[in-house]
Amino acid sequence: MARRKIVAGNWKMNMTPSQAKALCAELKDLVKSEDVDVVYCVPAIDIVPVVEAVKGTNVKVGAENMYFEEKGAYTGEISAAMLVDAGVEYVIIGHSERRDYFKEDDCLLNKKVKKALEAGLIPILCCGETLEQREMGVTMDWIRLQIKSDLAGVTAEQVQGMIIAYEPIWAIGTGKTATTEQAEEVCKGIRMCIEEMYDAQTAEAVRIQYGGSVNAANAAELFAQPNIDGGLVGGASLKADFGKIVNYK
Ligand code: PGA
Repeated sequence: MARRKIVAGNWKMNMTPSQAKALCAELKDLVKSEDVDVVYCVPAIDIVPVVEAVKGTNVKVGAENMYFEEKGAYTGEISAAMLVDAGVEYVIIGHSERRDYFKEDDCLLNKKVKKALEAGLIPILCCGETLEQREMGVTMDWIRLQIKSDLAGVTAEQVQGMIIAYEPIWAIGTGKTATTEQAEEVCKGIRMCIEEMYDAQTAEAVRIQYGGSVNAANAAELFAQPNIDGGLVGGASLKADFGKIVNYK
């Protein structure tokens, strides 16, 4: 069975609640699609108004982060149950900005992935290499390490419903997209890693996105690759162009 494409916007720390509502209204007709799943991953404070704003549309809502504990004294954190109750269906886990600026390591991310799945959220698990690692020729070693650690203890059935986003760090927000060949090569490598860890059926089912300077001009070529099942889009998700990325064909 062919995998359904999924295009997710990662708003990062942009859009106040009122700006968020306005953006949803602007994009509403542009992101309509019969055959692509569309997700807005938004800042925590925008979740409630965005869930409201996209009601009755094809858009699903995601969070950009969550904490793995059930509840309690974790000032400033948000639990999986809170997200689910607010109407969130997806959650980005392990974005390179969280790994880098907030020192989130694979041990923590593994806990987050497991908690998200347990709560019924769909994790969008991010991985990706630095430019230095690419130049040293260790890209796939690094990504395999991230995937294997972050998915430790996760079942085949759970992985089949997940999203993995390959985001080369040097391509994020730089306007420097990975070439189609580079993106496909790593996404294929991730699928092979999943097959090794689980089985062929799981590898076939898991959806793998490419992220890093995806825009209206390069989406079609990237998404046409056999192992790229859509994109995780930062900058271009905040403007009308996002509609063109969703309707890339
Ligand atoms: P970008 O960000 O599209 O602005 O490069 C992608 C991401 O960080 O998810």
